[in-house]
Amino acid sequence: MSFGVRLETIASLVPVGVAVVDVGTDHAYLPVLLAQQQKIRQAVATDIAAGPCQAAENTVAQYGLGGVISVRQGNGLAQVAPAEAEVVAIAGMGGKTIINILEQGAEQLEQTTRLVLQPMNGERELRHWLQEHKWKIVEERLAYEANRFYVVMAAVPGVEQPYEDIYYEVGPRLAAERPDGFVDYVQTLLHKYQGLLNSMNHSVAAQESARYREFAERKLRLEEIIHGN
Ligand SMILES: C[S@@+](CC[C@H](N)C(=O)[O-])C[C@H]1O[C@@H](n2cnc3c(N)ncnc32)[C@H](O)[C@@H]1O
Repeated sequence: MSFGVRLETIASLVPVGVAVVDVGTDHAYLPVLLAQQQKIRQAVATDIAAGPCQAAENTVAQYGLGGVISVRQGNGLAQVAPAEAEVVAIAGMGGKTIINILEQGAEQLEQTTRLVLQPMNGERELRHWLQEHKWKIVEERLAYEANRFYVVMAAVPGVEQPYEDIYYEVGPRLAAERPDGFVDYVQTLLHKYQGLLNSMNHSVAAQESARYREFAERKLRLEEIIHGN
């Protein structure tokens, strides 16, 4: 079975030989993929809801991986021991939900050596949170699937200097490495700001606001980044 480019990209940021927790596992496709790639010693697949846990149990049984992957129902990292959380993957959720899970799981993250995160939105807020909580982004990748880009990032414990504002949005590693699809990805961010500015153009008060100037500045920086500056 093919698990798709998005999950393959998330798996590519998980090192070999680790104990991994997949939070919000749904069908447990990520831990199954990692086990098939012989990358993990063990995995805990957690989900807050009963239906996804049942789906996860079914997938694990289907692939005969019950000895490697344990499925647990719970909120975030609540059902996980620190030693099990060497690598923590959280994918397919909004940035705010990911931040909540990381905040509530501070104790379980004490031995964690790497986070692998794929937010559906809120990348700017997530990068700010990671920096403020001493997680250093060391790798970022783009995955294009089902007509949209997904950003996947890996962070390790560490302190990082604040970036220029626009890199919280674009991704510091993506901006440095400009992988395939990078310019098209930045174009999607540019269109977002163009849309926001267009709707603000209907109101003089909005046009004169600090927010408008901030969005216009970001749009300008995105144009410069597209042109390699
Ligand atoms: C869209 S699915 C993503 C599934 C998988 N991680 C992926 O990327 O394909 C989101 C899953 O996260 C689960 N979820 C949402 N909030 C959660 C939380 N606080 N703790 C654990 N699971 C959560 C949902 O029940 C759902 O199964």
